[in-house]
Amino acid sequence: MSITEARAPRGLAGLVVTETAIGDVLGAEGRYHYRGHDAIELARAADFERAWHLVVLGGLPDADATARFRARTAATRVPPPAVREVVATAAAELRDPLRGLQTALPVLSAARGGRPLYDLTEDERVEEALAIASAAPVILAACHRAERGLDPFPPAAVPAEGTAADYLRRVTGREPDDTVVRALSAYLIATIDHGLNASTFAARVIASTGADMASCVAGGLGALSGPLHGGAPSRALDALDAVGTPDRIEPFVRGELTAGRRLMGFGHAVYRTADPRARLLREVALELGGPRVGLAVEYERIAERLLAQHRPGRELHVNVEFYAAVVLERCGIPREMLTPTFAVARIIGWTAHVLEQARDPKIIRPSSRYVA
Ligand code: ACO
Repeated sequence: MSITEARAPRGLAGLVVTETAIGDVLGAEGRYHYRGHDAIELARAADFERAWHLVVLGGLPDADATARFRARTAATRVPPPAVREVVATAAAELRDPLRGLQTALPVLSAARGGRPLYDLTEDERVEEALAIASAAPVILAACHRAERGLDPFPPAAVPAEGTAADYLRRVTGREPDDTVVRALSAYLIATIDHGLNASTFAARVIASTGADMASCVAGGLGALSGPLHGGAPSRALDALDAVGTPDRIEPFVRGELTAGRRLMGFGHAVYRTADPRARLLREVALELGGPRVGLAVEYERIAERLLAQHRPGRELHVNVEFYAAVVLERCGIPREMLTPTFAVARIIGWTAHVLEQARDPKIIRPSSRYVA
């Protein structure tokens, strides 16, 4: 068979299309790692910059190196003035922080003198990766604040503070307590990277053209915004709202499945066991407590039972998005900021993949088969 006749499976499912040293998802075993380090253990340690350093720069730093990395990334956190104007317009016109960041990225890149990856040295690419990933949470929070008529870019309350605490303060407007900072850090670390998911692949395809870092991240954001990928958590909360009380779970879930709708926060393209991120976040949710968690645990139990009847032989379990929604809501993150908060973490994964892809000057260019 010639190369042009080779047919890939639908959705490219299971097809190996690249090599990576960033991490791996072992779907059958229900675990995943970042550069050989168990991701759930890293998440339990709740030091976001340590995990960020590992994924992007390639080594697990000691306490001193982590502190230096925290200061380095905090220094590029607040974007230049041109971005402030975009945020004001985006907040008024788009009312969607994810789209606001997508709009602001080319301006941020231009203000930094950003150039195509193809023309940059490895050190310059790394600078771009860290600068864009560090500014993203502030821009997302600024879009949210501007929509509410608040100062979009208040000065940092604590210099060189970690990303999680700074982000929480900006989004909620409150002083975050340690329990909440640890919970958000665990979530962010657990979602930095996860194999060749749709948004990571999108970012890598763009990187393979030699485009600039901001374009790669903007493409990743577009993929992440879809309800089958990063857009599920707010819909999971909508489902819990619609249910209201435990006695209404079963009729609600049956109704959704009978109507042919998917249960948001359930199923996964790779895991055929429970999603390890969902297990971690269930634990975190139970630690945080609150009125929602009991209903969520019961919803999971009933939904998994009914999914097993609905698709016998297909392992459909709770995924990261379901308990992420519950945890983030308890951390004070509003519903419209759930997918943007996912982006805060996943942008770091994309930048690592973009750096890796950019080292190989081979454009990704598959073929299609014409059907009349
Ligand atoms: N509810 C009901 N049925 C489901 C669900 C669900 N949540 N998930 C899968 N199924 C069904 C599908 O309809 C599919 O049947 P079909 O082929 O006749 O359409 C069957 O189970 C098998 O699906 P899979 O091959 O296991 O799933 P796929 O790889 O196509 O999709 C996905 C994975 C997109 C996550 C899917 O499970 C889904 O839509 N879940 C709901 C949305 C969601 O929670 N997204 C977040 C995913 S996690 C993340 O992106 C970070």
